[in-house]
Amino acid sequence: MQLTFETQPYGTEEVLVIPMLEGNTPAAPLSATLQKFVDGMLTGEKDFTGKNGQVLTLKIPGKAKKIILAGLGDKKNIDEQSLRKLGTPLYKALKETKGAAISVYADGLSAANTAVLADALTREAYDFKKYKTAEDSAPEMEIRIGTGSPQAAEKAFEPLQAVTNGSAWASDLANEPGNSLNPETYARKIRDELSALGVEVTVLEQQDMLSYKMGAALAVGQGSDTPPCMVVMEYDGTGGKQKQPLALVGKGITFDTGGISLKPGANMDQMTLDMGGSAAVVGTMRALAARQAKTRVVAIVALAENMPDGKSYRPGDIVTSMSGKTVFVGNTDAEGRLVLIDALTYIQREHNPHTVIDLATLTGAQVVALGNDFAATYSNDNKLRDQFNAAGAKSGEKTWPMPLMETDSYTKAVKDTPLADLTNLAKGPGSCTAAAFLHEFIEKDDAGKDKCKWTHIDMAGPGMGSGIKKGWGVLVLNQLIQDNFEQKVGKKRAKASKHKTP
Ligand code: BES
Ligand code: ZN
Ligand code: ZN
Repeated sequence: MQLTFETQPYGTEEVLVIPMLEGNTPAAPLSATLQKFVDGMLTGEKDFTGKNGQVLTLKIPGKAKKIILAGLGDKKNIDEQSLRKLGTPLYKALKETKGAAISVYADGLSAANTAVLADALTREAYDFKKYKTAEDSAPEMEIRIGTGSPQAAEKAFEPLQAVTNGSAWASDLANEPGNSLNPETYARKIRDELSALGVEVTVLEQQDMLSYKMGAALAVGQGSDTPPCMVVMEYDGTGGKQKQPLALVGKGITFDTGGISLKPGANMDQMTLDMGGSAAVVGTMRALAARQAKTRVVAIVALAENMPDGKSYRPGDIVTSMSGKTVFVGNTDAEGRLVLIDALTYIQREHNPHTVIDLATLTGAQVVALGNDFAATYSNDNKLRDQFNAAGAKSGEKTWPMPLMETDSYTKAVKDTPLADLTNLAKGPGSCTAAAFLHEFIEKDDAGKDKCKWTHIDMAGPGMGSGIKKGWGVLVLNQLIQDNFEQKVGKKRAKASKHKTP
């Protein structure tokens, strides 16, 4: 898809999109002939009223040209969410016309809203054709968006595209198969992509992990021909002003066979997606750096391939994590929590974050509990948990609260093991006990209280699926950071300059 903002792109298009308000008034006045045509076509039409999200494709008799009416809804309710809601059916209708030259009559929308609508269309257009060798017969869409102020629309479009591109990159990584994406190739991709944007990227190779005594993460990766690694990313958009960073942590199992506790064959192919948490993290770093967010974030992704082999770790093994705590391996398929705990300890000890957020396709139980539409949020801080869920609702990547601090029975369950400090296979509800297990690796102060705020996102449901996958997590993380962890310098500056104006 190619997309441009222009003052007068009308005349040569194959498809003209006309945004309509509720009650079927065009968002900007139409020429008398066009208005007459639309009125004629809408006479007797019951289903299309201009309601938000409705689309109607009209054919001009005797011409190849088509018109798509796109429902904005009530004028006072037009916002980012309503425009994105329209983006989905509008893109579908555009695709169905098979037209390549498209004009959008967006003159009735503000520059900011025009940018959102344009961004919504590019987000919908995500596709993954890398391994389709046949030539695509459909012509590439060329969308020209008509607006009175192309420069203002372009300016508003840029930060939105930074996020959309970060999300698309996460999707590309998720769609990459296991024979192409392994800990080594993945780490290289992250370094290449992010260092170009000014993010400091450090790869902790197997040897480095050994010197940090990351016995849990090392165990998970030891059965693979590609050694495990951790990738650390640092982004500072505050010019050194923010003392403590926010930390993001992601599970990056590039393929999860289950290891010696081998998974059944059905749907095992989907376990290429077991790196979804890490993709959300690196995609967010890309988005933040590209839009130069005024915040400081450090991130770590734990990369490993969980394979059955003569060198693999076994059920019954006892591993010592970087924290010093020992873990009994009840099941080698509960590997996510093992790589995460060493990443959690590393980021807390080396970077002293005020808040830690980890994301992982962690448990099948999460899918049973919430299905594919919601990720589960666990937190030691109810405000942070609510902020996350609010960002989820706003961004469309939805999350739902689950219990962590409300009972100590899950904590008891993860400690209920005779030979080691903890077990990776606790009795009880799987997603909740996995969260309680991770909680044991949040560092404590002298009084025994958690040193930092922490939220764990079990995204197994939204992170899994078949076919072309849209990576989950960049949109909600970006929203959370934008709404809660970013300096609002823009507003202050605007106020200050107001006073200076004569
Ligand atoms: N990657 C899986 C979790 C998963 C399963 C995600 C199905 C999406 C769909 C994880 O590593 C795993 O296998 N977890 C086990 C843990 C169990 C052995 C304690 C699970 O949930 O079954
Ligand atoms: Zn597993
Ligand atoms: Zn896994």
